[in-house]
Parts: sequence; C-alpha cells; structure tokens
Amino acid sequence: MKKLFSIKKIPTSLWKQPSDNCYYPSSFVLCVNNRTATSINSSITARGSIQQRNFKTRIGTFQELNYYFTNFQKREYSTMIASDTNGITTGASTDTDVSSIPKRPVIQIDYRNKVILAPMVRVNGLPFRRLAAQYGADIVYSEELVDKKLLKCKPVYNEKLKTIDYISEKDKSIVYQVEVVDKDSDSPTASQKVPTVLQLGTSSPEIALKVAELMIDGYDAIDVNMGCPKKFSVKGGMGSALLRPENQENALEILRTLVKGIQEKYGKPVTCKIRLLDSPEQTLELFEKLQNTGVTAICVHARYIPQRPREKAHSHLIEPISKIAKVPLIANGDVFKPEDIERVKSVTGCSSVMIARGAMWNLSIFRKEKVLLDKLEVAKILLDEFIKYQYPAGLSKYIIKRMFETHAKTNLYKRLVGCKGYDDLHKAIHFNDGEDLNSKELSIEQITSIPEDDDVLPITSYQSTTTVTEPFTKKQKYQ
Ligand SMILES: Cc1cc2nc3c(=O)[nH]c(=O)nc-3n(C[C@H](O)[C@H](O)[C@H](O)COP(=O)(O)O)c2cc1C
Repeated sequence: MKKLFSIKKIPTSLWKQPSDNCYYPSSFVLCVNNRTATSINSSITARGSIQQRNFKTRIGTFQELNYYFTNFQKREYSTMIASDTNGITTGASTDTDVSSIPKRPVIQIDYRNKVILAPMVRVNGLPFRRLAAQYGADIVYSEELVDKKLLKCKPVYNEKLKTIDYISEKDKSIVYQVEVVDKDSDSPTASQKVPTVLQLGTSSPEIALKVAELMIDGYDAIDVNMGCPKKFSVKGGMGSALLRPENQENALEILRTLVKGIQEKYGKPVTCKIRLLDSPEQTLELFEKLQNTGVTAICVHARYIPQRPREKAHSHLIEPISKIAKVPLIANGDVFKPEDIERVKSVTGCSSVMIARGAMWNLSIFRKEKVLLDKLEVAKILLDEFIKYQYPAGLSKYIIKRMFETHAKTNLYKRLVGCKGYDDLHKAIHFNDGEDLNSKELSIEQITSIPEDDDVLPITSYQSTTTVTEPFTKKQKYQ
C-alpha cells in the first residue's frame, strides 16, 4: 500500500520556497522548536483537512502550507516537519526584512462622485473588501476597530499573500489585514489600487493618534466612527457618544489631532461618519464644526441615533447639509439596488454614496454596468476569496449566511445554516436543486434575521452567533 505520509525534518537553513508547480501536499504537519507537532496539530490539521477534498490542486494546502512556513519561519522556530503524499518536502527560504516590505504609498483620494463600501463589523475583512474593489467600489472601509485593541497588535508581513497582518499580542488573532502595494509593480490588483479606509472606534485623541501613526503604512485614509449607538460603545465614550453635546468638544479634538498628526504630516486623509441629531439645526451646527476641523470628507448615515437599520433612512434630511458642506459629503442609507445610487444622490444633493447592507447582500452592486450579478455566483467567488486568504470558516459562514438573509425561506439558506466548515459551505452553494431563488427574495421589511446589534459590535467583543464545531474558528488566527 502506498505510504500516505512521509515525514521529514527540515532545518530552517534548508527550507526552500515551494514553487507553483510543486506537488500539492494533501496534508501536512509542522513541528516547532522540536516540540511535537501535536501541540499545534489541531489547528494545522483542522485547516489542512478542510481543503483535502475539493480544492486539492486549486487553492488548497499549498497556500496553507506556505502560509505556515512563512510565518513560522519568521518567528524563528528552528525545525519543521513537513509531509506530503510523495514525501516531497517544501519550505520557505528567506527571512523577511521588515524594512523592505512594500507599503501602501500615499495616494490622493478624491471623495467626490464615489460609490463606497461602508464599514461593517465582522463583514469587511480583506477578502470582502477585495471583492468589492474588483466589482468596482471606489473606496472601501474596514470594519470598525477599537483603538485600544489595535494598540496591542504587531504588524507581520505575509510574503505569500502580500499582506500586512496586524496580530493581537493577546490571542494571536489577525485583527486587521491589508494588502501592500508594490509601487514598482506594473499590474497592481484592483483592490491594491482602491483606497482602503481604516475605521477607528475611539474616545481619545491621544490613543487615536498613536494608533493611526503606528499603523500608518496599513491604510490610505482614516475614519472615526461617530455613529455607533450601542451600549458598550457609548459607555466607552465612542461611536454616537461623541455626538452628545457634552462630548462634542472631545469629538472635535480627536479630529483636529488626527488632521494635524496624520493628514498634514503624512498626507493620508482623515474623515468621520456621523448620524442625524434630533433636529436639523443641531445636525447643521455640529456639521459646521466638524468640517472646520479640517477633515477631508464627512459621511452622514441618514438615521437618528436610536434608529435601527430596518427603519427607513431619512435621505432627504441630508439635503440641507449638502447646502452648507464645504467638504465632500457622503450619503449613507438604503441603497439596495444599482438604481438607488442615483436616487440617493439626487435626494441628498451628494455626489457620493456609501453602501452597507446592499453590498453585503450582493457585492456586484458596485459594478459600473449597474446590473446585479446572480448572487449565487458572487457567493462562489467570495468563498474562493475566503479560502485563499484563510479567513476563518466561522466568519465566512456568518457573511455568506447574511448574504442570503434576503432568501431566508429557501432551501439554500437552510443548507447554509447547517454548514460546519468550508467543505459544507462549498457544497451548500454549489449544490443545484433547481430552486428558483428570484421568486423567493424577501422584501426589506420581511427580513427579520438582521441581528439588532449588528451595526455596532466591534471586533473586540466578537462572539460567534453561529454554533460551530471544529474546524470553525471565531477569529482569524495567526499561529
Ligand atoms: C453588519 C453590519 C455591520 C456594521 N458595522 C459598522 C461599523 O463597523 N462602523 C460603522 O460606522 N457602521 C457600521 N454599520 C452601519 C453601516 O455602515 C451603515 O451606516 C448602515 O448599515 C446604513 O447603511 P445601509 O442602509 O446601506 O445598510 C454596520 C452595518 C451592518 C449591517
């Protein structure tokens, strides 16, 4: 019988870069500093085994293996045991010279006439932002990330994926991931060209500046979340708490500090995202002060602070703001179809719009052709991106499930609910039972599965809402 595993010890000095045409291992084991592989075995095999079946030669374990090789080597572990079905060993060769990591060079961002991917906690990881950019989003936002959490992260360069991963020192999860841009490259990808905005949750000018400066190579612009209405956020003085009269001076100080310390010093724009205040006068008065801080652009989510997403947006209330705006104004709220983009522009007087749920439900909303693609096809491409970037299966399921909350009464949705890993997700969206999804699309009012706290839960307090078993992981783990 053919031996399935041939395990070899490879000293770091002998590691070699796996080439694209090398044999794709069907499984692998690593041994770190002569500790047995079993201590790290579960996460490795969990990830490795996900891809054993369907993805073998496309995106499978080769990338997985290379990811571990690159990152383990960087962390100066001395010995690796790798195995593949033929006993062919592969490994990474060079140490990363951090000073030579390509950065995201400063680019001019024009916020006028843009269609923008809104920040969405748990959704806007790199794979989702990449696909939005590929479809045609002009600017993409990260999810809201809390400054104190980012402060405890360390940047690590992932050579294979060409990303900077900001790794939590506490639990080694990847808190934020961004592509680097090689300025000498002739062919940057769409998502390398599209500006990435890092959205901060903060209540402190000093911490905000410190984090923004530490991460300066990992974003193209920085945004302050001033709209989140949830308890944990407002309790910490963040989000919509910054819009309260007693905190407005602090909000302005955060922006002034970032404008001086980031925008003027490094040329990377500073912006903020707010909601409507109780009266038009209050909103206008605050808006005037915000734009006088020197920020490059302001986004207004056309809902009052306590309003939930399922309540209709008051787009017309943005129009008076557009009359006094001296900086580009971005309108946000209720863009669900390509034709809504023009509608919101004309109602609000804004030339730019920002889309959240409309993008979550079908990322092809950003297509310049203004025609949505079949969302099942979009889901297939998105799943491929998740796998390529080793995005946690639990989060991937969460996003794909939310994508189809517009179809919560379908067999497809039921299949998604039962998924336990990438394999299941792949099967669920590739299985064809001839179901007519179009006829089963729910109206916005009918969509009941939107978790109430969704527009507010920051990654720091992320709790999986799905019941998952191995190989699901709640966070994007850096091992
Ligand atoms: C899943 C989800 C997560 C969100 N996370 C954030 C966030 O991190 N920061 C933020 O400012 N707004 C967040 N929001 C609010 C959206 O950015 C947007 O303001 C709101 O959904 C209204 O836009 P829409 O009508 O296009 O959905 C989130 C919304 C959703 C649906």
